Amino acid sequence: MSHAQLYPVPEHIKAKTLVTNEQYLAMYEESVSQPDQFWANHGKRISWFTPFTKVKDTSFDLGNVHVNWFSDGSLNASYNCLDRHLPEKAKDVAYYWEGDEPGVQKAVTYQELYDEVCQLANAMRTLGVNKGDRVTIYLPMIPAAVVSLLACARIGAIHSVVFAGFSPDALGSRIQDCDSKLVITSDQAARGSRLTYLKDNTDQALAHLGDANPAKHVIVVKHVGENIDFHQGRDLWYHEILAKEPKHCEPEVMNAEDPLFILYTSGSTGKPKGVLHTTGGYMVWASMTHQYVFDYKEGDIYWCAADIGWVTGHTYIVYGPLANGATSVLFEGVPTYPSVKRIAQVVDKYKVNILYTAPTAIRALMAHGTVAVDGADLSSLSILGSVGEPINPEAWSWYHQSYGKDNCPIVDTWWQTETGGILITPLPGATALKPGSATRPFFGVKPAIVTNEGELVEGVAEGNLVILDSWPGQMRTVFGDHERFEQTYFSTYKGMYFTGDGAKRDEDGYYWLTGRVDDVLNISGHRLGTAEIESCLVAHDAIAEAAVVGYPHDIKGQGIYVFVAPRVGVEPSDELTKAVRDWVRREISPIAAPDIIQWTPSLPKTRSGKIMRRILRKIAANEYDQLGDISTLADPSVVEHLIQNRLNR
Ligand code: WTA
Repeated sequence: MSHAQLYPVPEHIKAKTLVTNEQYLAMYEESVSQPDQFWANHGKRISWFTPFTKVKDTSFDLGNVHVNWFSDGSLNASYNCLDRHLPEKAKDVAYYWEGDEPGVQKAVTYQELYDEVCQLANAMRTLGVNKGDRVTIYLPMIPAAVVSLLACARIGAIHSVVFAGFSPDALGSRIQDCDSKLVITSDQAARGSRLTYLKDNTDQALAHLGDANPAKHVIVVKHVGENIDFHQGRDLWYHEILAKEPKHCEPEVMNAEDPLFILYTSGSTGKPKGVLHTTGGYMVWASMTHQYVFDYKEGDIYWCAADIGWVTGHTYIVYGPLANGATSVLFEGVPTYPSVKRIAQVVDKYKVNILYTAPTAIRALMAHGTVAVDGADLSSLSILGSVGEPINPEAWSWYHQSYGKDNCPIVDTWWQTETGGILITPLPGATALKPGSATRPFFGVKPAIVTNEGELVEGVAEGNLVILDSWPGQMRTVFGDHERFEQTYFSTYKGMYFTGDGAKRDEDGYYWLTGRVDDVLNISGHRLGTAEIESCLVAHDAIAEAAVVGYPHDIKGQGIYVFVAPRVGVEPSDELTKAVRDWVRREISPIAAPDIIQWTPSLPKTRSGKIMRRILRKIAANEYDQLGDISTLADPSVVEHLIQNRLNR
């Protein structure tokens, strides 16, 4: 790691960058030594109805954790994304929407986006949705998805987006947990030509909730056009209700600390948590990181190829770019459909300057050699980005060469749903790159490394990544469960925010993320809790006990390895294995489907009955000669049996 090749900032980038290395160092220094002054200044980058006079009011002390920024200011997020760009940008394109099928496309201007957001916002008010109410959004990557988020923001409703790949059960539990009054979905979704029946899924989710269903209405976008069941009185067509509403809607005046959205994410224990973000600090963070991390300048064409169902889509498809008045590509499809050339074709079609995608996509394309870029021009590209999981140096170099022609900096951005936006990242004009390193902290971020005992380690170090002080984009609480917020993030290491990630720091102060140190999996950049998958598995008739661990996977980064013990009298078979895989796929999502299922009469446990995952992880990774101490197991012979029958050879 210390001898990693260094990629200096290319001259043409340096010549017109927003931030040189000298500027970065000076700004960073001010941001951590005088946060109030720094953020009072940068907080003004967005529009406030009432300017703030307070800046930072935060504490990481267990029992008294609170995060407040700009707390006496008022604003509206949709106003910042739309109104403040009009009329100058009325005719500018906000999104080039590129459909799943090549040739299906639509450009949406800032004026058109404004009009539609106002109409939907009015329609929601007509339905009785008010400030503080929750709205669940379950949509494909279409303009109506962006409109839905902004329409909620406009009237102060709190949106909770559920990824369109999630099952009816996962959708239902998220609707119930935050007590959503309204669901916005579409008839179907198409990705890689495969249909997902979103409205059917919604019907099932609500039916399953029965009397506990809090949603009074379902707004349905007609997108793919296949038939759906329509529940009179409850269901409403999006286009019909919008047609009745004026194209103007007064934005609700929101306090900086009023909630903007909830986004459910997996943790190491229990069911997914509703991560809550508020308005002021989040908007400052989203717009500022979007501008500096991508060295974004007026006129750039920007493409974040994530999904709005994840936090990357919230911050870097919707709020960040729109707050900066950017022109983005909004892509409905997948990188491999109709061929692995799709990303390059879309880049050339819209002359994309900034491309932000995930290592898993890069590895999937890299597996085909250079086919993905053969014949493509790609000369419009100037900055590349990576997010969601560690990027291995091979994939980094391939991305740099094939898409970047060795001439585009790659910003490897480390962050989390909880952090609201990017925390550790290179800046294109300031940071010399090392493949595989997320490099240095963004302004105001104080990362540190601690041992398992919680001792801070200075200089070159390896251990657990913590953040020592608050930043404006930080999550504020777990929706409805502040205690869980404190316990999850602030109890492991006193007075510090624990990320759940491991990291190294090298002699240049660069950070290298090494993956999760807890029971959270990262499958193709999608976050999944082992506990969630295990509880789904044991709900299957044939299964008595289950343990889920991750193992290294060439394309997905991590794969899902499942150890299952059958119930008495159940004989494992190939059919049963397949049925178990389909069960998880159906109950949670295809992204949670196990890659490997190993049946075993029993699982390795301590005498107190705790499953020894450490051992299972080693077996799954095929590192069975480094199991460590197994003498504390209730029955050490279990381990030998597991090794004999391991499947990942
Ligand atoms: C991982 C996605 C290494 C990390 C924005 C983190 C990364 C989790 C990187 C959060 C990166 C994200 N390098 N690891 N550049 N970016 N991660 O909440 O383990 O879906 O804790 O947010 O992804 O995933 P989440």
